[in-house]
Amino acid sequence: MKTFSTVIANDILTTKKFLDEGETVGIPTETVYGLAANALDENAILKIFTAKNRPHFDPLIVHVHSAKEIEKYVHRIPHRAKDLIKAFMPGALTLLLKKNEVIPDLVTSGSDMVAIRIPAHPMALKLLKQLDFPLAAPSANPFGYISPTTAQHVYDQLQGKIPYILDGGPTSVGVESTIIGFDGEEVIVYRLGGIPVEEIEDVIEAKVRMELNASSNPAAPGSLKSHYAPGKNLRIREFENVRMEIQNAKTGVIAFDKYVEGIERKNQILLSEKGDLEEAAKNLFAAMRKLDASDVDEIIAIKFPDKGLGRAINDRLKRASA
Ligand code: TXA
Ligand code: MG
Repeated sequence: MKTFSTVIANDILTTKKFLDEGETVGIPTETVYGLAANALDENAILKIFTAKNRPHFDPLIVHVHSAKEIEKYVHRIPHRAKDLIKAFMPGALTLLLKKNEVIPDLVTSGSDMVAIRIPAHPMALKLLKQLDFPLAAPSANPFGYISPTTAQHVYDQLQGKIPYILDGGPTSVGVESTIIGFDGEEVIVYRLGGIPVEEIEDVIEAKVRMELNASSNPAAPGSLKSHYAPGKNLRIREFENVRMEIQNAKTGVIAFDKYVEGIERKNQILLSEKGDLEEAAKNLFAAMRKLDASDVDEIIAIKFPDKGLGRAINDRLKRASA
């Protein structure tokens, strides 16, 4: 594999130049950083799988800049999908739709469904508008590890493997997009993420169906049980029970808005002191990385309220603990 001296900078034209040449680059989105390449160029796509060490059976999300662009790559958009596009795109929502022949099978790992979204990051949108092709982009982390929420996170793990990282600052949402599909007009949620399920149900005025587990849905490996994982052992506990669990001075804690008594403050990270789930989601992955790199031996995460973005946070913690 080619090695690069990876540059972090914020020049969209340079990013475009690398993408036009069929290279892969790190790009910001509002959810997490992506590892992007020309979604219509099989050689470019192969470089994503190689840089990420990602198995070829795990398909990639296609990124476009407008709803009109989505139509170029899919057969039909269900009515409810149109409502959801209007409500949430650009934004942290990915739609699984029947692809047409323009999208290479390598992008979808042979499936006839393509995952497609419009990122709500001004630099990503500006870049997409200047390109003649959509971008395939998984999160820019080695397969199975925590997703990156800053350009530096991308650099720390992929340095040498890619030529360029477009720096758009820390991501504003912090967890990946919510992935949904359609069964007729019924909405199925395959991955919890940046758009809360409650908000989707408000728009469609109906309940969604949940299919979050790999066993029932081997087609979406992002729902693999173990994923988004730090190197250290991570356990999830209720706030009330956590004190009796801790026998070890070197335990790190990730909590929502209050510290656990009896554990050194320096080993604890509060994701939102003011108790805001959006702020907590935004800080989640950086906190996991920080404790993973610190001298704690293990991590305890306190369970979050099971509503709004708290559900996506609990989902990521659960997979990180598996
Ligand atoms: O917020 C996000 O979605 C970020 C940013 C970079 O856009 N991307 C992201 O990509 O999280 P990735 O590859 O880390 O996770 C995408 C998930 C994978 O688990 C994959 O299995 C699933 O989406 N997926 C992609 N295409 C699919 C398809 N055609 N059918 C079923 N699942 C698909
Ligand atoms: Mg990922």
